[in-house]
Amino acid sequence: MAENKSERGNVLIFGAGGQLGSELMKLFPEATGVYHTGSEGNLTLDITNFVRLEDIILKKRPKVIINTVALTNVDKCETEKGIANKINAESVRHIVRAAAVSRSYLVHVSTDYVFDGADGMYKENSIPNPINFYGLSKLLGDWAAQSYDDSLIVRTSGVFGYKSNYPRFVLSQLKEGKEVKAVESFYSPIHAKLLAEAILELTELRRTGIVNVSGPRISRYDLAVKIAEKISAPTDKIFELDQSQMKWPASRPYDSSLDNTLSRRLIDNKFYDIDLNLDLLAGA
Ligand SMILES: NC(=O)c1ccc[n+]([C@@H]2O[C@H](COP(=O)([O-])OP(=O)(O)OC[C@H]3O[C@@H](n4cnc5c(N)ncnc54)[C@H](OP(=O)(O)O)[C@@H]3O)[C@@H](O)[C@H]2O)c1
Repeated sequence: MAENKSERGNVLIFGAGGQLGSELMKLFPEATGVYHTGSEGNLTLDITNFVRLEDIILKKRPKVIINTVALTNVDKCETEKGIANKINAESVRHIVRAAAVSRSYLVHVSTDYVFDGADGMYKENSIPNPINFYGLSKLLGDWAAQSYDDSLIVRTSGVFGYKSNYPRFVLSQLKEGKEVKAVESFYSPIHAKLLAEAILELTELRRTGIVNVSGPRISRYDLAVKIAEKISAPTDKIFELDQSQMKWPASRPYDSSLDNTLSRRLIDNKFYDIDLNLDLLAGA
């Protein structure tokens, strides 16, 4: 696909220090990254400072805004609903308001946790029904983004990059010969690098509406086994646990997997290759 250099240049990326944001910064080297906290020379913002948030957009007038900011700690969202709502929902309303003034194309990142997990393989037009506050606050953010015509909502699942996350936890436990407890549940994990590449392609297409981008459906147990196979570790220390054994503040969907038929038709399919995703994990 032809590279659209002008679109890569005048880009504002919120959440530039996160798992996905840092991968996007590599793909959009001329973009302005907005960090939560950061070193000297970086543009920093607490996104709940809505006046400054709008001001950054209105001064920069970017062609493209990519918003990866979220309070992703599901249990913290449950116990600190006010701040979760500000970060995951209210901020998007302010991004949309400023984006409309500056006529920017908005890419907003959403989650499989907007679904209740009763069915799995959710499509773009499946009806959300969040069962925890993280999912609800993200859904409110999606609605804000959807209220703007020139917006794309990328729904994804189980993003794993440089931070602590389930696949990285499994990898380190297995490398140390320790037990892995896999809670019985299904999702569609994706490496942050492949998700960023898919977002770049969708941005170049200037796609609007909702598009799912994730890996294939897999149980957390089977994922752990696959990671063990990747590094030639024994699988006998991987155990499956029932969700009822977990004492989490927030409920988790049983099967939040996403149907990627649309994105696999629109862009390069490689994000859907579980081996490639796990090679990136094991090689990182
Ligand atoms: N991680 C997953 O499993 C997953 C699954 C489905 C969907 N998603 C969605 O994918 C997107 C990217 O997730 P990710 O995995 O890259 O998460 P991440 O690494 O936690 O990145 C989120 C970013 O938001 C920043 N942030 C949090 N509070 C902020 C605030 N008040 N002001 C400014 N920035 C703030 C974080 O900065 P600090 O780290 O400094 O707080 C971080 O850089 C999110 O929209 C998330 O909802 C993630």
